[in-house]
Formats: sequence, C-alpha cells, structure tokens
Amino acid sequence: MDAFTQEIIAVDDQYYLPSFGRRTPLVIDRGEGCYVYDKSGMQWLDLLGGIAVNVLGHNNEALSAAICEQSKRVIHCSNLYYNEPQAQLAAKLCELTGYDKIFFGNSGAEANEAAIKLARAYFYQKGENRFGIVSANQSFHGRTLATLTATGQSKFHKGFSPLPAGFSTVPINDIEALRAAVTPETCAVMLEPIQGESGVWPLTTDYLQAVRQLCDESGILLIFDEIQSGMGRTGSFLAAEISGVKADITTLAKGLGGGVPIGAILATDECASGFTPGMHGSTFGGNPLACAAALAVLDEYDRLDLMANAKMAGEYLQSALLALAAEGLGIAEVRGAGLMLAFDLTEDKAYALKDELFAKGVLVNSCTPRTIRLLPPLILNTEQVDDFVTILRTCLSAE
Ligand SMILES: Cc1ncc(COP(=O)(O)O)c(C=O)c1O
Repeated sequence: MDAFTQEIIAVDDQYYLPSFGRRTPLVIDRGEGCYVYDKSGMQWLDLLGGIAVNVLGHNNEALSAAICEQSKRVIHCSNLYYNEPQAQLAAKLCELTGYDKIFFGNSGAEANEAAIKLARAYFYQKGENRFGIVSANQSFHGRTLATLTATGQSKFHKGFSPLPAGFSTVPINDIEALRAAVTPETCAVMLEPIQGESGVWPLTTDYLQAVRQLCDESGILLIFDEIQSGMGRTGSFLAAEISGVKADITTLAKGLGGGVPIGAILATDECASGFTPGMHGSTFGGNPLACAAALAVLDEYDRLDLMANAKMAGEYLQSALLALAAEGLGIAEVRGAGLMLAFDLTEDKAYALKDELFAKGVLVNSCTPRTIRLLPPLILNTEQVDDFVTILRTCLSAE
C-alpha cells in the first residue's frame, strides 16, 4: 500500500463513523469507462459499478456536461415550486414504465420507505385498517427503520429494537407460504424480482404471476423493489417485465442518476391517490440537478442502446462463468440475468477470491462467504469480460 493510501485510510479510521466494513485498501481517485484508478495511476476493472450505480461507467461525457450545465442554471429549488428537469423526468419515466405517477427521493431506502407509506396511506384513505407488509426472507430493502424491518435478514435488525410493527417475511418462490402470511390486516406484498444483496436470487415467473393473482384476489397492493434490478440492468427496463407482471408500486434508485443520488416511486393512479398534499415530502427529492442527471442517463441509454448491451454482455459473461464451472474450477452455481450476476464457489473462499481479484486489478463484491456478485456498468464489452475471465481462471486454478 502506498503512503497516500495509508494516510487517507488513517484519516478515515480516525474520523469516519465505523459503519462500513471497508476491507479493500483502495482510494479511488478517478474513473474512465469501466475502469477506476487510484492516485498513483493503478487501474482496476470495475465489475461492481458502485453497487449497480455507475450504469454509464465513469466520466461519461454527456452526464458530466448535463450536471455542469444544470449546476450553472439552478442546482436546487424547493418543491414548493416547479422545475423543468423534474417535470420532464417524471413524464419520461412514467411513459417508459407505464405508470401514472412518480415521486422522487434521494436514495433506495427513501423510495422504499415512501412505498410502504403509500401502501398504508392508500388503505387509510379507503377507511380500511390494513397496514401489514409481507416481504421475503433474504430480501434487502434499505436501512431506515421501516425498510430494515421489511428486510428479511435478522443481522440488519440487531440493535434497533423496537422495530416498527406490521412486518412479516416468507420464503421466496413459495406461493402457499405467502398465501398463509396474508391476513385481513395486510396492505402490501413487497418483493425484489431478483434479490440482490443476499446473492442474486431470481424469483420465478410462475411465482411472480401467482403473487400478482394473490394480491388481486386479496385486494392488496404489490410493491416491486427494483432499486438494484431495475434501470435496464437485466436487459429490460424493469426486471419484472420479463414475467409480464406489473406491480402497483415500483421503486427505483441506484443507476437512475448515474451516480447522482436520486430515487423514485412509480405508482398507478389508483394507488397514488393514497397521498394527499402534506402526507409525504422531501427537501432534496427531485431537485433539478439530480433530475437533469437522470435525464442525461436515459438519453445515453437510447444513444448507446444500453439495455441491449446489458443483455448481450450479461449473457456472454454468464456463459463464460458457466464454462468455468464446467471446467471444475470451484464454481458451484451461476445466477442472475443481464449484468446482475452472482456465482457461488464450492467452498467458503469468496472473501479470499475477491482479494486476489483486487490484487490482479478487478473489483467485485463478495456478498456472502461463498458468493461473488457482479454489477458492472452497462457499457461493459466482451473484451473486458474476456480479460476478467482470464484473470478469474488464473485465480481459481491457483486454488
Ligand atoms: C433492492 C434494494 N433495495 C433498497 C436498497 C437501499 O438503497 P440505498 O442504499 O440507496 O438506500 C438497496 C441497496 O443496496 C437494494 O439493493
């Protein structure tokens, strides 16, 4: 580790609240396309993309220009007034997804918190006492009190009792378990169409369709958390599109601003009627800078045909990983769609493998002791996949 890296880590250790288990000695100085660099010029292939955020890669010219230009007009204005980028982005995202209404926040957790509030408010407006949220085991929905309670992993609950009431979880892809968990007090089912944080676990098309039917029969709402799986990462704008299922509320964040913080909830007109003026709000949410960035991101999706690239590069990467698995190099399973992929090792060696890949110039995420997760920029090309696979083969062969 060089002296500069050492110094920054020391300052951070002294002053930054110890909430992240930062174990990789990398101070990112700049990025270009799918690569990041430290101050000394060392290069890494970024297959994590800021955890599914840097959809355009780093230093995208159009995104930087849009941010610069908007910053010279107005960076922020209160939501007591209107602003053009917000109105344009609202229209564009609704048209793109088929939803009627949108609300902008600043992060994924905030979007999910708003979705939970909207679901409860919807039934409040109808005079019905429904407040329960059923989510999935191994899900991840964020770090606010409501969203961490919806998160089906007890490690995220520890230390924060008492948790808000009305939350329960069920195993994924088990419609009977969900049916049994829905009570007269349930207001919504909240699911990630592909679970991300816990290791990329897709929900089956049959299950998603059965969940939609169950919600309709029970008169309750369906919320899809597409914060990680959305924004074209799987090859379609929303991952749930593949199953033909549309939720009443869908949440987005991560890639939406290409790195500028912004989150959104999309809702049907019927469901959006849950909020009346004053019931929800945000100082920063949907500010002109963030919305101008998101508009530039969406324009780049069209210009570069990024969803098609996510599908193509994802399939190429997935088959290369399956080929490595077939070679008996210690890969047990490959999961995911498009550029939302994970592979399990046959042994608990994911942390060591992540470190070896780092040493050889590649950034990945080890989301469990056995699982490596890949969420690269959607501009990833096949040469970069080949480079990664060559390095990965070297690491796995050395085992
Ligand atoms: C599916 C999902 N929902 C919600 C969140 C929380 O988003 P944020 O960290 O922006 O609050 C995440 C973050 O990883 C996520 O993957």
